[in-house]
Amino acid sequence: MAEITVKPDQLLERILTLELVRVTERAAVASASLRGRGDEKAADKAAVDAMRRELNRLPIAGRIVIGEGERDEAPMLFIGEELGTGKGPAVDIAVDPLEGTTLCAKNMPGSIAVMAMAEGGTMLYAPDVYMDKIAIGPGYPKGTIDIDASVADNIHSLAKAKGVKPHEITTLILDRPRHAAIIEAARSTGASVQLITDGDVAGVIHTTDPDETGVDIYIGTGGAPEGVLAAAALRCIGGEMYTRLILDTEEKRERAKKMGVSDPKKIYTIHDMVQGDCLFAATGVTTGNLLKGVKYRRDDIVTTHTVVMRSATGTVRWIEAEHRNLAKFHLG
Ligand code: FBP
Repeated sequence: MAEITVKPDQLLERILTLELVRVTERAAVASASLRGRGDEKAADKAAVDAMRRELNRLPIAGRIVIGEGERDEAPMLFIGEELGTGKGPAVDIAVDPLEGTTLCAKNMPGSIAVMAMAEGGTMLYAPDVYMDKIAIGPGYPKGTIDIDASVADNIHSLAKAKGVKPHEITTLILDRPRHAAIIEAARSTGASVQLITDGDVAGVIHTTDPDETGVDIYIGTGGAPEGVLAAAALRCIGGEMYTRLILDTEEKRERAKKMGVSDPKKIYTIHDMVQGDCLFAATGVTTGNLLKGVKYRRDDIVTTHTVVMRSATGTVRWIEAEHRNLAKFHLG
């Protein structure tokens, strides 16, 4: 039988997989203690502090490429911030310590702590602006969706590729006034529209398992950071996604240019957003369709539910963890 060998760089990546779980678990536990308090900033800060502390423990020379904002507007985990012990591989890090801050503050379903990591210099380094996004899961011919085609054409094309009628397609869209025309166009094909109030990282991931989630396609405009994080997940699970930054002012175009975006109208594929092998992890803060939320049990045990993925192998692990003595080890 042939011996299975693991190259040193792959070994480290394998070890880091579990480290990512620790990072998102800690961020989720920290923000979960502030669920339902109506204070988005406090919940976000708790997640940011915990994530930063854990990232600084890792044997990496990390650089935040997707973070809490740009240097002048975010005190921590800002784009360009360097993290880790510095003794390890150079990696790009994308974080959203609390994705769905409003969901957490209102104790509504679907807030998560999320991050991705990739080889240094391989993740889209882009400003914190809006982004147009369209995504479907794996198993369809390339070109089934097209960000420049109409909503109706995309739904018809997907229905044809799936071998169903348009009314059997479900389109997930963020419930925002700016999406009124998209919602109308999707409904006019007969497709079902599922609206979410927040959280389009999980929204995009929903498309990867329509049998389970009932969601076939994600369309709409959301945060660019969330777009890159979702692309990292799809790079691991498979799927098709196209995005375009919305650089609708000279100031945004200038900011983007400084970060290396030379074509403001560029359409990004998953591979443009995450070029190298990557890792992705998300832990539930409040229970949603994707992940269970953090639970504080009476016996002082805290439980978390995390999904972690690796693009090199396409492995997706669902990890339920019981944490004891969180306070004792200053980890909560
Ligand atoms: P936050 O966690 O930063 O609040 O983001 C939640 C979210 O719903 C994202 O998932 C989405 O990409 C973005 O907000 C949409 O932005 P907006 O709320 O401005 O429409």
